Amino acid sequence: MSRILSGMQPTGNLHLGNYLGALKNWAGMQYSHECFYCVADLHAITVPQDPQKLRQAVRETAAAYIAAGIDTKKSTLFAQSAVPAHAELIWVLATFAPLGCLILMTQFKDKTAKSRDLELLGLYAYPVLMAADILIYKATHVPVGEDQKQHLELTRDVAGAFNRQYSVEYFPLPEPVILGEAARVMSLRDGTKKMSKSDESDYSRINLTDDADAIALKFRKARTDAAPLPHTLKELETRPEADNLVTIYAALADQARKDVLTAHSGSQFSGFKKELTDLAVSRLAPITEKMRHLLQDPTEIDRILVRGADTANALAGQHMREIKDIVGLWSGK
Ligand code: TYM
Repeated sequence: MSRILSGMQPTGNLHLGNYLGALKNWAGMQYSHECFYCVADLHAITVPQDPQKLRQAVRETAAAYIAAGIDTKKSTLFAQSAVPAHAELIWVLATFAPLGCLILMTQFKDKTAKSRDLELLGLYAYPVLMAADILIYKATHVPVGEDQKQHLELTRDVAGAFNRQYSVEYFPLPEPVILGEAARVMSLRDGTKKMSKSDESDYSRINLTDDADAIALKFRKARTDAAPLPHTLKELETRPEADNLVTIYAALADQARKDVLTAHSGSQFSGFKKELTDLAVSRLAPITEKMRHLLQDPTEIDRILVRGADTANALAGQHMREIKDIVGLWSGK
């Protein structure tokens, strides 16, 4: 059976891009795959974090996973830092990760462009840790948004290099699973920029914790051009903000973009945005409500995370012993 691993960083609010690009697709995979979903707190500390807030953000992210349909009896949900083998494997994989590739990674370039103080080994090694997250479980499929594709390519390269070096077929080469119409949700303020947790303007994104009024206000203020909705996808391609709103609508409604256009071509944005707001509220409100409910009992979330870490540690520990054996490291035998 194929095995899934995916994760999100517990930094700031999860937003509509995280939901439509990744989280929304995770729950459906639980019935056909063995699934591991981690909260990537080790990745989060590649930029400075307040310890108290980070610990709380881990719980909030776990609550978002559950609220979005992750069944913790079916899937393994855990905090990355609770499984030491992730940090152990990164060292082995680092010996296969070319610096020339790491320096080209978009996420590294974006973050260091904002502040040269972040040019640190941890941020640089970020994609290798992600490779370790995936490979320590010998995962075959990784559901992510489009921005993570580059990291998956590196993961495959590193896995292939390991297998060749030791003449083994140990690591599967994991496939990215990029599903739905909204693999890349853009900022509501600028249709050429990705919707992101780190954007200074909260109007650029819909957070999973936003209430109906905030969602309505943000869509109302979302940048658009003056023309009505076009008739064809080709026309839409030249209008990034309009394209983004149609894409969000399509993903929330589980429709193809072309069908959304067929239903709304010629409409003014004021009307379309109202419908989009109603749709977004109807999809997100139950998730927000469930998150709120779950967060009232943090001890229960902690219990779930401890149980998940036990399951994850059992498999990751076994794999780490096998990897040490292959490499010739001391594995206690
Ligand atoms: P992160 O925390 O930035 O994002 C989590 C997931 O959300 C997707 N995503 C988006 N999808 C569509 N439109 C957007 N605007 C958008 N913004 C974010 C991301 O593609 C991702 O799937 N490195 C990862 C976390 C990670 C991970 C892993 C993922 C750590 N270890 C192992 C997969 C496997 C990250 O920073 O995601």
